[in-house]
Amino acid sequence: MSAAPAIVPPGGTIGILGGGQLGRMLALAAARLGLKCHIYSPEEDAPAFQVAAAHTRGSFDDIAALEGFARACDVVTFEFENVPAETIERIGPVFPSAATLRITQDRFEEKSFVNALGLKTAPFRKVDGPADGSGILKTRRLGYDGKGQAKVADAREIAAAYARFHSAPCILEGFVDFAFEASVIAARGRDGAFAAYDPPENLHENHILRRSTVPSRLSAAQVAEAKDIARKIADALDYVGVLAVELFVARDGQLLVNEIAPRVHNSGHWTIEACAISQFEQHIRAVAGWPLGDASRHSDAAMENLIGDEVAAWRKLAANGGALHLYGKSEIRAGRKMGHVTWLKGSRG
Ligand SMILES: Nc1ncnc2c1ncn2[C@@H]1O[C@H](COP(=O)(O)OP(=O)(O)O)[C@@H](O)[C@H]1O
Ligand SMILES: [Mg+2]
Repeated sequence: MSAAPAIVPPGGTIGILGGGQLGRMLALAAARLGLKCHIYSPEEDAPAFQVAAAHTRGSFDDIAALEGFARACDVVTFEFENVPAETIERIGPVFPSAATLRITQDRFEEKSFVNALGLKTAPFRKVDGPADGSGILKTRRLGYDGKGQAKVADAREIAAAYARFHSAPCILEGFVDFAFEASVIAARGRDGAFAAYDPPENLHENHILRRSTVPSRLSAAQVAEAKDIARKIADALDYVGVLAVELFVARDGQLLVNEIAPRVHNSGHWTIEACAISQFEQHIRAVAGWPLGDASRHSDAAMENLIGDEVAAWRKLAANGGALHLYGKSEIRAGRKMGHVTWLKGSRG
């Protein structure tokens, strides 16, 4: 690991590993601050390439290409958390750190880390072979949008799901009959400054985020507790950048940590319209070593994802008063996030 990089002044270049919609929105936010982005992605036509000053097409195990990319950037960050931690270590300095990635890439390590901070999660245990019990079997690594997860009721179902996951190391997690889901999106600067957004309430359909709404049904005390959870996690990781903490809000009001995303998050897209400084600009500020911006919310908002062919309604959506975001993905696939719409309160048609 090299020394901490200098503060990136306007005109400098932020390297972003991953070229999806998150990278695209990061690059757009960076541009507003006079910063350039250089995107690294294996994809041929990555959504972020279209809006960035530079891009490199390469795989995440091509160390020579990654090192060349890192040399061309003043600081490197990522929008895709499955870049191998060893790679991050090799090309450092990267924000958030390789140590953070090591923890958040593995559900067992992540939940153990959260519990060690005195924060609650659903009960969980390792599964590396035949096991009994019920709940949700999840692969420890590489899951997203519900991939690598199965609801299981007994030993037979665990065995079947485990086989479907090619015997990858798993955890068995207790099923939480939550009242609703929420998330905290927060930022920590290089100087340790902390800023959290108002936690949205999140509705998932088929394990994919459908809608995020602010304000949520959380009480003021729960909002404070949620922000405190994010702060404890961020401080313990010596985190730099934006992170999201997904929460289950139990029927008795307890907040359980579901997972940590070491990056900007889909449930924070509404911050573009409803806050002076969006999660994307906040992340850029943090990794560039700039002061964090004001995370306060000036409007109530609802964000809805456009998934798969829902994006075909773009013309109608463009006319109905929401802020339409399209990610520039040429191919529509079922379950693929193609765009989103944010409505500010009062403008919903
Ligand atoms: N233990 C659980 N109890 C109830 N619902 C769960 C549980 N774990 C996951 N889910 C549901 O599945 C969604 C996706 O699971 P999550 O663990 O966040 O994985 P992913 O990495 O796919 O987002 C959650 O947001 C929640 O709706
Ligand atoms: Mg999740």
